[in-house]
Amino acid sequence: MSESAVPYTTNNAGVPVPSDDNSLTVGRDGPILLHDHYLIEKMAQFNRERVPERVVHAKGAGAYGVFETTEDVSRYTKATLFQPGRRTEMLARFSTVAGEQGSPDTWRDPRGFALKFYTEDGNYDLVGNNTPVFFVRDTIKFQDFIRSQKRRPDNGLRDHDMQWDFWTLSPESAHQVTWLMGDRGIPKSYRHMNGYSSHTYLWINASGERFWVKYHFKTDQGIDFLTQEDADRLAGSDPDLHREDLWQAIEGGTPPSWTLHVQVMPFDDAPGYRFNPFDLTKVWPHGDYPLIRVGTMTLNRNPEDYFVHIEQAAFEPANLVPGISVSPDKMLLGRIFSYPDTHRYRIGPNYAQLPPNRPHVPVHSYAKDGPMRFDPARTAAPYAPNSYGGPAAGTARYDDPAAGWQSSGEMVREAYSPHAEDDDWGQAGTMVRQVLDDAQRDRLVSNIVGHLKGGVSGPVLERAVQYWRNVDKALGDRVAKGVGKD
Ligand code: NDP
Ligand code: HEM
Repeated sequence: MSESAVPYTTNNAGVPVPSDDNSLTVGRDGPILLHDHYLIEKMAQFNRERVPERVVHAKGAGAYGVFETTEDVSRYTKATLFQPGRRTEMLARFSTVAGEQGSPDTWRDPRGFALKFYTEDGNYDLVGNNTPVFFVRDTIKFQDFIRSQKRRPDNGLRDHDMQWDFWTLSPESAHQVTWLMGDRGIPKSYRHMNGYSSHTYLWINASGERFWVKYHFKTDQGIDFLTQEDADRLAGSDPDLHREDLWQAIEGGTPPSWTLHVQVMPFDDAPGYRFNPFDLTKVWPHGDYPLIRVGTMTLNRNPEDYFVHIEQAAFEPANLVPGISVSPDKMLLGRIFSYPDTHRYRIGPNYAQLPPNRPHVPVHSYAKDGPMRFDPARTAAPYAPNSYGGPAAGTARYDDPAAGWQSSGEMVREAYSPHAEDDDWGQAGTMVRQVLDDAQRDRLVSNIVGHLKGGVSGPVLERAVQYWRNVDKALGDRVAKGVGKD
């Protein structure tokens, strides 16, 4: 490159700077000067380069892409992005849950599967995991669950005893822990895992008919996993393996894709269904509600700047569009509050204006001011109603009178009302006995025993053995033998 082709360095105000080698000093050997504004700018900017990491799902990777609706599901939802033939630009971020920013990608953990669709009705976010179920079923237990998986307050260490203490005192965790300790607890890469809404959502069609729905994004790369031994080795030699894999696949011209299927339950089936259809610790067996194909998601564009596009990406289950709404899932309803709240803390109150979070349609909100406000207010009368032509709510676009369900009763603090086959162990046992083959069951036992031997003892270990006997007697007996408690 010739010297004239090299861009000249400026400070943040665009003014050319004299040097990136020498500070301004009094004489060659004298003190540096406070009015070396460029030096001060460099130091001060550096000191402010970090935003807090996500309180969970801190380590991740992401890319932009497109979702194409290849089938006709318009009889179930009027959401524009799910109309036949529609192509919608989108962003995906995958993550581990409990590890920090620099933690290895191959630790055993569920993986986040967060999607943001830039639809013509604004942003639609589907913030799921690579598992169809979760560890707890009430939002009020989430903070305790996460603390048991993260670090101890006294010595700053992670602690298997703490994890199993919480799990064994919370039997509703059994389905997800079985899943976690199996092969899918360490995917081979982000490309080799499925994504699930996990929660049940409500779909509304153009006639106002309602359906309960669960999303399944099946990987077109095929499911694949790492053994515990390989994962341990790779955690040392290649801690960013999964981030690199996603980047390289897209750079190398093999964009990964997933096929979206949904399970659809008629609205009125919910009260009489054998499982509580809103309980996040349960699946709907495919035999009851078969998968219906919807379309394909392809990730084909790497972010040009990781911090701007992925670290500052702000996903929120509250971003729903006409045709899609929430269900009575007590986890989902809590999450509606939690995400925008954490974004205001982590990124700042105007996070929605940043490149990955900006909708691809005009924003007509009455929001104004606040730190780092970028977009000018779009109306001279910053209040509603006004008589100066400001936007009006509840008109043409938002036409979803049916986007809810009926509810009444005394205020209580009680578990969900029971359905016929609700229990904490049944579906986990079905997976162990009917889904896994012998080799998968062997690895499940080995992973559980290895984890328990990593510092679990006393009554917690006793409870862990019983926990697995409750899931499946034969599995529990093998675990007992493995940890010397038979
Ligand atoms: P099916 O036989 O129809 O479905 C079993 C499903 O289990 C498969 O389709 C696959 O889901 C998933 N699966 C396969 N291998 C593993 C594994 N090693 N670890 C975790 N999941 C695996 O039976 P049901 O629908 O009646 O479900 C039986 C059990 O399967 C459930 O109790 C649940 O534990 C588990 N399961 C069910 C899912 C569902 O939505 N019904 C989804 C995932 C697991 P996929 O095709 O999504 O990869
Ligand atoms: C991230 C809260 C349950 C999937 C987060 C974050 C919070 C949070 C505070 C950090 C967000 C950020 O800083 O950007 C909660 C609460 C839950 C809950 C309160 C239960 C009540 C779940 C469940 C799932 C899930 C059930 C999956 C089905 C994710 C994902 C991310 C995330 C994928 C990372 C999003 C990203 O990539 O930026 N959660 N969560 N969470 N959560 Fe949850």
